[in-house]
Amino acid sequence: MHWLFTDEGSERFLLDELKRNYPRAHHAQDQERWVTTDAPLDGESERTLLAFCRQALLKGEATTAASINLWADRVVSEVIDQIPAEQPWRLHLWPAYGEGRAGINRCALIREAVMERLKKRRRALVRTLEEGSAPFTAQTSLVQLALRAPEEGILSVTLGPLPWGQRTIVSAFPEGWVPIAEDKSAPSRAFTKLVEAEQRMGKAIRKGQSCVDLGACPGGWSYVALARGARVVAVDRSELRTDLMTHPKLHFHCGDAFKFRHDVRVDWLLCDVIAAPQRSIDLLVAWLQEERMVNFIVSIKFMGVEDYPLIDQLKVRAAPLCSELSLIRLSANKNEICAFGSAI
Ligand SMILES: C[S@@+](CC[C@H](N)C(=O)[O-])C[C@H]1O[C@@H](n2cnc3c(N)ncnc32)[C@H](O)[C@@H]1O
Repeated sequence: MHWLFTDEGSERFLLDELKRNYPRAHHAQDQERWVTTDAPLDGESERTLLAFCRQALLKGEATTAASINLWADRVVSEVIDQIPAEQPWRLHLWPAYGEGRAGINRCALIREAVMERLKKRRRALVRTLEEGSAPFTAQTSLVQLALRAPEEGILSVTLGPLPWGQRTIVSAFPEGWVPIAEDKSAPSRAFTKLVEAEQRMGKAIRKGQSCVDLGACPGGWSYVALARGARVVAVDRSELRTDLMTHPKLHFHCGDAFKFRHDVRVDWLLCDVIAAPQRSIDLLVAWLQEERMVNFIVSIKFMGVEDYPLIDQLKVRAAPLCSELSLIRLSANKNEICAFGSAI
């Protein structure tokens, strides 16, 4: 059984997506924000795309423990039994209940108790425990404990290469949540979407690279690309903030994003145009087919919820053209999802 964690109120969209993609499997909502499925999501070669899944606890088990010490015992016995010697592993311990600090504090105490026990019983596992949210490697194993109440949780242990193989649904960020620092100088908060997508990709726009930014006004995404030292062609019907318009590495093209053509293959297609989802999907697929970019970050925006099944087109049409493809509703997204990745 796999346990999938989703955004508040998105359980039914995740269930619909699962039913469309895995009609023969059994899926159910378990509690608020949790969906279970027996769909074959733990294959190591075929990557899963589920836009409404924030974090996947593959082969998870619902379990209980009456105290911090008993939780630590439970986690440590799994870790010692299952994590291969000398291989890197991560521990994601997070509260999926309550609003305040209580759950966060409880998880911190369990973590401390886990570390104490490992130091005494299997010090080598302390050395191979990785901190941080860098992308998984094929060797990385992942232990997740999501507390759904102080004494109840989902425990999942996935051995490398599974977390890496299923990196499109198993996030390297605990809870699948990417913290983004505020930047008051950015022209719009939209910049957080681009930064989050970069972090999830484990790949950022680099100095000297070329970007096309479609639907660029007022300039949040261009601002990030310029700050990274890239060159930007910004396309919109409205001008960007003045300081960006006069930036020596930005060329502004006033016009229709859907008609824009660029002579050479660019390092990044950035697209945050407000348009019907089908148009944005067709645009991304056309850019991929015509080999017009190497990497891409593209927003797909929705009016209501009835167009969500269009997401499946990307899984069929775009995936074969990509070496990497993720589809996810970012933490910063409202009624939209983000498609990001790299062309073949
Ligand atoms: C959400 S805003 C983009 C925000 C931008 N990414 C940022 O970080 O500031 C969407 C933009 O798409 C532009 N837009 C909508 N349709 C367009 C089209 N057909 N061609 C060019 N721009 C378009 C709008 O003018 C608007 O500025």
